[in-house]
Amino acid sequence: MRLGIIMNGVTGRMGTNQHLLRSILAIREQGGVPIGDGEVIWPEPVLVGRSGHKLRALAEAHGLEHWTTDLEACLSSPEYQIYFDAQVTSERAPTLRAAIAAGKHVYCEKPIAEDLPSALELARLARDAPVKNGVVQDKLFLPGMLKLRRLRDGGFFGRIIAVRGEFGYWVFEGDGQPSQRPSWNYKKQEGGGIILDMFCHWRYVLDQVLAPVRAVSALGVTHITQRFDERGRPYQCTAEDAAFGTFELEGGIVAQVNSSWAVRVHQDDLLTLQVDGTEGSAVAGLRDCWVQPRATTPRPIWNPDVPREFDYRAGWQEVPNNEVFDNAFKVQWELFLKHVACNAPFPWTLLEGAKGVQLAALGLRSWRERRWLDVPDLG
Ligand SMILES: NC(=O)c1ccc[n+]([C@@H]2O[C@H](COP(=O)([O-])OP(=O)(O)OC[C@H]3O[C@@H](n4cnc5c(N)ncnc54)[C@H](O)[C@@H]3O)[C@@H](O)[C@H]2O)c1
Repeated sequence: MRLGIIMNGVTGRMGTNQHLLRSILAIREQGGVPIGDGEVIWPEPVLVGRSGHKLRALAEAHGLEHWTTDLEACLSSPEYQIYFDAQVTSERAPTLRAAIAAGKHVYCEKPIAEDLPSALELARLARDAPVKNGVVQDKLFLPGMLKLRRLRDGGFFGRIIAVRGEFGYWVFEGDGQPSQRPSWNYKKQEGGGIILDMFCHWRYVLDQVLAPVRAVSALGVTHITQRFDERGRPYQCTAEDAAFGTFELEGGIVAQVNSSWAVRVHQDDLLTLQVDGTEGSAVAGLRDCWVQPRATTPRPIWNPDVPREFDYRAGWQEVPNNEVFDNAFKVQWELFLKHVACNAPFPWTLLEGAKGVQLAALGLRSWRERRWLDVPDLG
Protein backbone atom coordinates (compact mmCIF):
# COMPACT_ATOMS: atom_id res chain seq x y z
CA MET A 1 0.00 0.00 0.00
CA ARG A 2 1.73 3.16 -1.20
CA LEU A 3 1.45 6.26 0.99
CA GLY A 4 2.72 9.52 -0.47
CA ILE A 5 4.26 11.81 2.16
CA ILE A 6 5.02 15.49 1.72
CA MET A 7 8.06 16.06 3.95
CA ASN A 8 8.52 19.77 4.66
CA GLY A 9 11.54 21.15 6.56
CA VAL A 10 13.45 18.02 5.69
CA THR A 11 16.76 19.83 5.13
CA GLY A 12 16.82 20.77 8.85
CA ARG A 13 18.53 18.95 11.70
CA MET A 14 15.50 16.92 12.78
CA GLY A 15 14.00 16.58 9.31
CA THR A 16 17.12 15.05 7.78
CA ASN A 17 18.49 12.92 10.58
CA GLN A 18 15.53 11.63 12.53
CA HIS A 19 12.64 11.79 10.09
CA LEU A 20 14.14 11.16 6.66
CA LEU A 21 17.23 9.01 7.33
CA ARG A 22 16.39 7.14 10.52
CA SER A 23 12.64 6.82 9.92
CA ILE A 24 11.31 6.95 6.35
CA LEU A 25 14.47 5.70 4.59
CA ALA A 26 15.01 3.07 7.31
CA ILE A 27 11.43 1.88 6.79
CA ARG A 28 12.07 1.61 3.02
CA GLU A 29 15.32 -0.26 3.65
CA GLN A 30 13.48 -2.83 5.77
CA GLY A 31 10.92 -3.30 2.97
CA GLY A 32 8.08 -1.13 4.35
CA VAL A 33 5.80 -1.48 7.37
CA PRO A 34 4.24 -4.96 7.50
CA ILE A 35 0.47 -4.93 8.01
CA GLY A 36 -0.31 -8.66 7.79
CA ASP A 37 -1.12 -11.10 4.97
CA GLY A 38 2.21 -10.26 3.34
CA GLU A 39 1.12 -6.67 2.72
CA VAL A 40 3.26 -3.65 3.58
CA ILE A 41 2.88 0.10 3.74
CA TRP A 42 5.39 1.69 1.38
CA PRO A 43 6.20 5.35 2.18
CA GLU A 44 6.91 7.47 -0.90
CA PRO A 45 8.33 10.84 0.20
CA VAL A 46 8.56 14.09 -1.70
CA LEU A 47 11.11 16.43 -0.12
CA VAL A 48 9.81 19.99 0.19
CA GLY A 49 11.55 23.18 1.26
CA ARG A 50 12.71 26.62 0.27
CA SER A 51 16.05 25.78 -1.28
CA GLY A 52 16.06 23.75 -4.50
CA HIS A 53 19.79 23.02 -4.45
CA LYS A 54 19.69 21.68 -0.87
CA LEU A 55 16.69 19.51 -1.66
CA ARG A 56 18.25 18.16 -4.83
CA ALA A 57 21.48 17.34 -3.02
CA LEU A 58 19.61 15.57 -0.23
CA ALA A 59 17.43 13.61 -2.67
CA GLU A 60 20.42 12.59 -4.80
CA ALA A 61 22.48 11.57 -1.78
CA HIS A 62 19.78 9.10 -0.81
CA GLY A 63 18.54 7.92 -4.19
CA LEU A 64 15.19 9.72 -3.95
CA GLU A 65 13.42 10.97 -7.06
CA HIS A 66 10.96 13.51 -5.77
CA TRP A 67 11.71 16.98 -4.43
CA THR A 68 10.20 20.41 -4.97
CA THR A 69 9.98 23.96 -3.66
CA ASP A 70 6.31 24.11 -4.70
CA LEU A 71 4.39 23.13 -1.58
CA GLU A 72 1.04 24.25 -3.01
CA ALA A 73 1.36 21.88 -5.95
CA CYS A 74 2.07 19.00 -3.54
CA LEU A 75 -0.89 19.89 -1.37
CA SER A 76 -3.22 19.84 -4.36
CA SER A 77 -1.84 16.55 -5.71
CA PRO A 78 -3.78 13.34 -4.96
CA GLU A 79 -0.41 11.49 -5.08
CA TYR A 80 0.22 12.52 -1.48
CA GLN A 81 -2.02 11.55 1.42
CA ILE A 82 0.16 12.77 4.30
CA TYR A 83 1.69 16.15 5.09
CA PHE A 84 4.65 16.07 7.53
CA ASP A 85 6.17 19.21 9.03
CA ALA A 86 9.61 19.61 10.66
CA GLN A 87 10.08 23.27 9.76
CA VAL A 88 11.11 25.91 12.28
CA THR A 89 8.36 26.22 14.89
CA SER A 90 7.16 29.65 13.71
CA GLU A 91 6.23 28.28 10.25
CA ARG A 92 4.29 25.25 11.53
CA ALA A 93 0.78 26.54 12.28
CA PRO A 94 0.06 28.33 8.97
CA THR A 95 1.43 25.44 6.92
CA LEU A 96 -0.49 22.80 8.89
CA ARG A 97 -3.66 24.86 8.44
CA ALA A 98 -3.15 24.80 4.65
CA ALA A 99 -2.46 21.05 4.67
CA ILE A 100 -5.60 20.29 6.68
CA ALA A 101 -7.64 22.51 4.34
CA ALA A 102 -6.23 20.49 1.42
CA GLY A 103 -7.55 17.30 3.08
CA LYS A 104 -4.14 15.82 3.93
CA HIS A 105 -3.55 13.70 7.02
CA VAL A 106 -1.04 15.64 9.11
CA TYR A 107 1.90 14.62 11.28
CA CYS A 108 4.37 17.12 12.71
CA GLU A 109 7.18 17.98 15.07
CA LYS A 110 6.50 19.65 18.40
CA PRO A 111 5.59 22.34 19.36
CA ILE A 112 2.59 22.24 17.02
CA ALA A 113 2.24 26.05 17.29
CA GLU A 114 3.75 28.98 19.16
CA ASP A 115 0.65 29.71 21.27
CA LEU A 116 -2.26 27.77 22.74
CA PRO A 117 -5.13 29.34 20.71
CA SER A 118 -3.36 28.43 17.44
CA ALA A 119 -2.60 24.92 18.73
CA LEU A 120 -6.22 24.32 19.74
CA GLU A 121 -7.46 25.72 16.43
CA LEU A 122 -5.29 23.20 14.57
CA ALA A 123 -6.59 20.33 16.71
CA ARG A 124 -10.17 21.44 16.04
CA LEU A 125 -9.62 21.89 12.28
CA ALA A 126 -8.09 18.40 12.00
CA ARG A 127 -10.92 16.85 14.01
CA ASP A 128 -13.62 18.56 11.95
CA ALA A 129 -12.04 18.01 8.51
CA PRO A 130 -11.72 15.13 9.50
CA VAL A 131 -8.13 14.11 8.85
CA LYS A 132 -5.87 11.77 10.76
CA ASN A 133 -3.43 13.81 12.81
CA GLY A 134 -0.45 13.32 15.05
CA VAL A 135 2.46 15.00 16.80
CA VAL A 136 5.97 13.66 17.39
CA GLN A 137 6.36 12.53 21.03
CA ASP A 138 9.60 10.67 20.52
CA LYS A 139 10.79 10.57 24.13
CA LEU A 140 7.94 8.14 24.93
CA PHE A 141 9.60 5.57 22.67
CA LEU A 142 13.09 5.85 24.14
CA PRO A 143 14.24 2.65 25.87
CA GLY A 144 14.86 4.53 29.15
CA MET A 145 11.31 5.91 29.24
CA LEU A 146 9.80 2.56 28.16
CA LYS A 147 11.62 0.90 31.06
CA LEU A 148 10.26 3.51 33.49
CA ARG A 149 6.76 2.81 32.23
CA ARG A 150 7.31 -0.90 32.61
CA LEU A 151 8.33 -0.32 36.24
CA ARG A 152 5.33 1.92 36.93
CA ASP A 153 2.86 -0.49 35.31
CA GLY A 154 4.38 -3.39 37.27
CA GLY A 155 3.84 -1.55 40.56
CA PHE A 156 7.58 -1.30 41.29
CA PHE A 157 7.43 2.17 42.87
CA GLY A 158 4.59 1.66 45.37
CA ARG A 159 3.30 5.22 45.75
CA ILE A 160 5.31 7.61 43.57
CA ILE A 161 6.27 10.65 45.62
CA ALA A 162 8.71 12.73 43.59
CA VAL A 163 10.46 13.07 40.24
CA ARG A 164 13.73 14.86 39.42
CA GLY A 165 14.64 15.54 35.82
CA GLU A 166 17.94 16.87 34.52
CA PHE A 167 18.17 17.77 30.87
CA GLY A 168 20.87 19.65 29.06
CA TYR A 169 24.38 20.07 27.77
CA TRP A 170 26.71 22.86 26.78
CA VAL A 171 25.67 24.37 23.46
CA PHE A 172 28.70 26.18 22.10
CA GLU A 173 28.22 29.87 21.43
CA GLY A 174 29.35 29.54 17.80
CA ASP A 175 32.62 31.49 17.92
CA GLY A 176 35.52 29.09 17.56
CA GLN A 177 33.61 25.84 17.90
CA PRO A 178 30.41 25.65 15.85
CA SER A 179 27.13 25.63 17.76
CA GLN A 180 25.27 22.31 17.88
CA ARG A 181 21.86 24.01 17.60
CA PRO A 182 20.40 26.49 15.10
CA SER A 183 20.51 30.20 16.02
CA TRP A 184 16.70 30.64 15.91
CA ASN A 185 16.57 28.58 19.14
CA TYR A 186 18.02 31.59 21.00
CA LYS A 187 15.77 34.27 19.46
CA LYS A 188 12.29 34.78 20.91
CA GLN A 189 11.17 36.63 17.76
CA GLU A 190 11.95 33.52 15.68
CA GLY A 191 10.11 31.01 17.90
CA GLY A 192 13.09 30.13 20.13
CA GLY A 193 13.40 29.57 23.88
CA ILE A 194 13.94 26.42 25.93
CA ILE A 195 10.54 26.61 27.64
CA LEU A 196 8.55 26.35 24.39
CA ASP A 197 10.99 23.73 23.17
CA MET A 198 11.26 21.45 26.21
CA PHE A 199 8.02 21.89 28.20
CA CYS A 200 6.20 20.21 25.27
CA HIS A 201 8.34 17.14 25.95
CA TRP A 202 7.95 17.33 29.73
CA ARG A 203 4.15 17.49 29.37
CA TYR A 204 3.79 14.19 27.52
CA VAL A 205 6.58 12.43 29.44
CA LEU A 206 5.08 13.35 32.82
CA ASP A 207 1.45 12.82 31.71
CA GLN A 208 2.01 9.48 30.04
CA VAL A 209 4.95 7.89 31.86
CA LEU A 210 4.10 9.04 35.41
CA ALA A 211 0.91 11.02 36.09
CA PRO A 212 -1.01 13.98 34.61
CA VAL A 213 0.42 17.47 35.21
CA ARG A 214 -1.91 19.66 37.30
CA ALA A 215 0.11 22.80 38.09
CA VAL A 216 3.36 24.52 37.14
CA SER A 217 5.85 27.02 38.49
CA ALA A 218 8.77 28.01 36.29
CA LEU A 219 11.74 30.31 36.12
CA GLY A 220 13.57 31.02 32.88
CA VAL A 221 17.02 32.58 32.47
CA THR A 222 19.15 33.70 29.54
CA HIS A 223 22.57 32.67 30.81
CA ILE A 224 24.47 33.31 27.56
CA THR A 225 23.45 36.66 26.12
CA GLN A 226 25.51 36.72 22.93
CA ARG A 227 25.98 33.91 20.45
CA PHE A 228 27.17 33.60 16.82
CA ASP A 229 24.90 32.54 13.99
CA GLU A 230 25.39 30.09 11.12
CA ARG A 231 27.41 32.72 9.23
CA GLY A 232 29.59 33.58 12.22
CA ARG A 233 27.83 36.90 12.92
CA PRO A 234 27.26 37.84 16.58
CA TYR A 235 23.65 38.23 17.74
CA GLN A 236 21.85 39.09 20.95
CA CYS A 237 20.05 36.17 22.61
CA THR A 238 16.46 37.19 23.27
CA ALA A 239 15.14 33.82 24.44
CA GLU A 240 15.83 31.92 27.64
CA ASP A 241 18.43 29.13 27.43
CA ALA A 242 17.61 27.55 30.82
CA ALA A 243 14.39 26.78 32.65
CA PHE A 244 13.80 25.53 36.16
CA GLY A 245 10.33 24.00 36.39
CA THR A 246 8.38 22.51 39.27
CA PHE A 247 5.24 20.56 38.47
CA GLU A 248 2.47 19.13 40.62
CA LEU A 249 1.19 15.87 39.22
CA GLU A 250 -2.00 14.03 39.99
CA GLY A 251 -1.75 12.11 43.26
CA GLY A 252 0.40 14.77 44.94
CA ILE A 253 3.59 13.82 43.06
CA VAL A 254 6.13 16.66 42.89
CA ALA A 255 8.29 16.82 39.77
CA GLN A 256 11.24 19.17 39.31
CA VAL A 257 12.84 19.39 35.90
CA ASN A 258 15.90 21.47 35.02
CA SER A 259 16.42 22.19 31.33
CA SER A 260 19.54 23.98 30.14
CA TRP A 261 21.66 24.60 27.07
CA ALA A 262 24.30 26.13 29.33
CA VAL A 263 25.24 23.26 31.62
CA ARG A 264 28.17 20.85 31.56
CA VAL A 265 27.16 17.21 31.86
CA HIS A 266 28.17 15.32 35.01
CA GLN A 267 25.61 12.54 34.98
CA ASP A 268 24.95 9.36 33.02
CA ASP A 269 23.04 10.92 30.14
CA LEU A 270 21.81 14.19 28.58
CA LEU A 271 18.41 13.49 30.09
CA THR A 272 17.92 11.64 33.35
CA LEU A 273 14.71 11.22 35.30
CA GLN A 274 14.81 9.97 38.88
CA VAL A 275 11.52 8.64 40.21
CA ASP A 276 11.23 8.04 43.94
CA GLY A 277 8.47 5.84 45.31
CA THR A 278 7.70 4.35 48.70
CA GLU A 279 8.73 0.87 47.48
CA GLY A 280 11.63 1.78 45.24
CA SER A 281 13.38 4.35 43.08
CA ALA A 282 14.54 4.39 39.47
CA VAL A 283 16.84 6.60 37.41
CA ALA A 284 16.30 6.49 33.67
CA GLY A 285 18.54 7.92 30.98
CA LEU A 286 17.80 7.87 27.25
CA ARG A 287 18.48 4.13 26.95
CA ASP A 288 19.39 2.73 30.36
CA CYS A 289 17.56 2.56 33.64
CA TRP A 290 18.72 1.65 37.13
CA VAL A 291 16.62 0.72 40.16
CA GLN A 292 16.98 0.50 43.92
CA PRO A 293 14.15 -1.25 45.73
CA ARG A 294 13.25 -0.45 49.35
CA ALA A 295 14.76 -3.73 50.60
CA THR A 296 18.25 -2.93 49.27
CA THR A 297 18.27 0.77 50.15
CA PRO A 298 21.40 1.72 52.16
CA ARG A 299 21.01 3.54 55.47
CA PRO A 300 23.35 6.52 55.31
CA ILE A 301 24.17 8.58 58.40
CA TRP A 302 25.26 12.18 57.92
CA ASN A 303 28.89 12.58 58.96
CA PRO A 304 31.16 14.67 56.75
CA ASP A 305 34.11 14.03 59.09
CA VAL A 306 34.61 10.43 57.96
CA PRO A 307 35.27 9.07 54.44
CA ARG A 308 32.22 8.02 52.45
CA GLU A 309 30.88 4.72 53.75
CA PHE A 310 28.93 3.66 50.65
CA ASP A 311 29.53 3.68 46.93
CA TYR A 312 26.02 5.00 46.35
CA ARG A 313 25.94 4.27 42.63
CA ALA A 314 27.02 0.67 43.20
CA GLY A 315 23.80 0.08 45.11
CA TRP A 316 21.67 0.32 41.97
CA GLN A 317 20.75 -2.49 39.62
CA GLU A 318 20.37 -2.13 35.87
CA VAL A 319 16.96 -2.86 34.32
CA PRO A 320 17.44 -5.41 31.50
CA ASN A 321 16.31 -4.60 27.95
CA ASN A 322 14.17 -7.74 27.52
CA GLU A 323 13.30 -6.56 24.00
CA VAL A 324 14.91 -4.95 20.96
CA PHE A 325 14.41 -1.19 20.80
CA ASP A 326 14.18 0.57 17.45
CA ASN A 327 14.74 4.30 16.81
CA ALA A 328 12.09 6.23 18.77
CA PHE A 329 11.09 8.46 15.82
CA LYS A 330 10.82 5.45 13.49
CA VAL A 331 8.64 3.53 15.94
CA GLN A 332 6.19 6.43 16.10
CA TRP A 333 6.27 6.91 12.29
CA GLU A 334 5.33 3.25 11.80
CA LEU A 335 2.41 3.67 14.19
CA PHE A 336 1.24 6.80 12.36
CA LEU A 337 1.47 5.10 8.95
CA LYS A 338 -0.61 2.18 10.28
CA HIS A 339 -3.08 4.70 11.71
CA VAL A 340 -3.51 6.26 8.26
CA ALA A 341 -3.51 3.02 6.27
CA CYS A 342 -5.39 0.66 8.61
CA ASN A 343 -7.06 2.89 11.18
CA ALA A 344 -4.83 1.49 13.93
CA PRO A 345 -5.04 3.48 17.18
CA PHE A 346 -2.81 6.55 17.48
CA PRO A 347 -3.44 8.53 20.68
CA TRP A 348 -0.70 11.16 20.07
CA THR A 349 -2.96 13.61 18.27
CA LEU A 350 -2.72 17.36 17.71
CA LEU A 351 -4.84 17.78 20.85
CA GLU A 352 -2.06 16.02 22.79
CA GLY A 353 0.38 18.36 21.04
CA ALA A 354 -1.74 21.33 22.20
CA LYS A 355 -1.28 20.15 25.80
CA GLY A 356 2.47 20.59 25.37
CA VAL A 357 2.00 24.12 24.03
CA GLN A 358 -0.36 24.80 26.95
CA LEU A 359 2.28 23.80 29.51
CA ALA A 360 4.89 25.93 27.77
CA ALA A 361 2.55 28.95 27.72
CA LEU A 362 1.73 28.48 31.40
CA GLY A 363 5.42 28.05 32.22
CA LEU A 364 6.25 31.33 30.47
CA ARG A 365 3.39 33.09 32.29
CA SER A 366 4.38 31.63 35.65
CA TRP A 367 7.90 32.98 35.14
CA ARG A 368 6.59 36.40 34.07
CA GLU A 369 4.10 36.68 36.96
CA ARG A 370 6.34 34.89 39.48
CA ARG A 371 3.59 32.52 40.67
CA TRP A 372 2.14 28.97 40.52
CA LEU A 373 -0.49 28.28 37.84
CA ASP A 374 -3.01 25.44 37.53
CA VAL A 375 -3.12 23.50 34.27
CA PRO A 376 -6.77 23.46 33.13
CA ASP A 377 -8.15 20.37 31.39
CA LEU A 378 -8.28 20.88 27.61
CA GLY A 379 -11.07 18.31 27.34
N1 LIG B 1 11.35 15.96 18.82
C1 LIG B 1 12.51 16.48 19.17
O1 LIG B 1 13.22 15.96 20.01
C2 LIG B 1 12.98 17.76 18.55
C3 LIG B 1 14.34 18.14 18.68
C4 LIG B 1 14.76 19.31 18.08
C5 LIG B 1 13.88 20.10 17.37
N2 LIG B 1 12.57 19.70 17.28
C6 LIG B 1 11.60 20.55 16.53
O2 LIG B 1 11.82 20.37 15.14
C7 LIG B 1 11.63 21.60 14.44
C8 LIG B 1 12.88 21.87 13.58
O3 LIG B 1 14.00 22.01 14.42
P1 LIG B 1 15.50 21.83 13.87
O4 LIG B 1 16.37 21.82 15.05
O5 LIG B 1 15.53 20.70 12.90
O6 LIG B 1 15.68 23.21 13.10
P2 LIG B 1 16.57 23.53 11.80
O7 LIG B 1 16.79 25.01 11.84
O8 LIG B 1 17.74 22.63 11.71
O9 LIG B 1 15.61 23.17 10.55
C9 LIG B 1 14.51 23.97 10.24
C10 LIG B 1 13.91 23.62 8.90
O10 LIG B 1 12.85 24.53 8.62
C11 LIG B 1 13.09 25.15 7.36
N3 LIG B 1 12.49 26.50 7.37
C12 LIG B 1 11.31 26.79 6.82
N4 LIG B 1 11.03 28.09 6.98
C13 LIG B 1 12.06 28.64 7.64
C14 LIG B 1 12.35 29.96 8.08
N5 LIG B 1 11.49 30.97 7.87
N6 LIG B 1 13.51 30.17 8.73
C15 LIG B 1 14.37 29.14 8.96
N7 LIG B 1 14.13 27.86 8.56
C16 LIG B 1 12.99 27.61 7.90
C17 LIG B 1 14.58 25.09 7.15
O11 LIG B 1 14.90 25.20 5.81
C18 LIG B 1 14.91 23.71 7.74
O12 LIG B 1 14.61 22.71 6.78
C19 LIG B 1 11.36 22.64 15.51
O13 LIG B 1 9.99 22.93 15.57
C20 LIG B 1 11.81 22.01 16.80
O14 LIG B 1 11.04 22.43 17.93
C21 LIG B 1 12.13 18.56 17.84
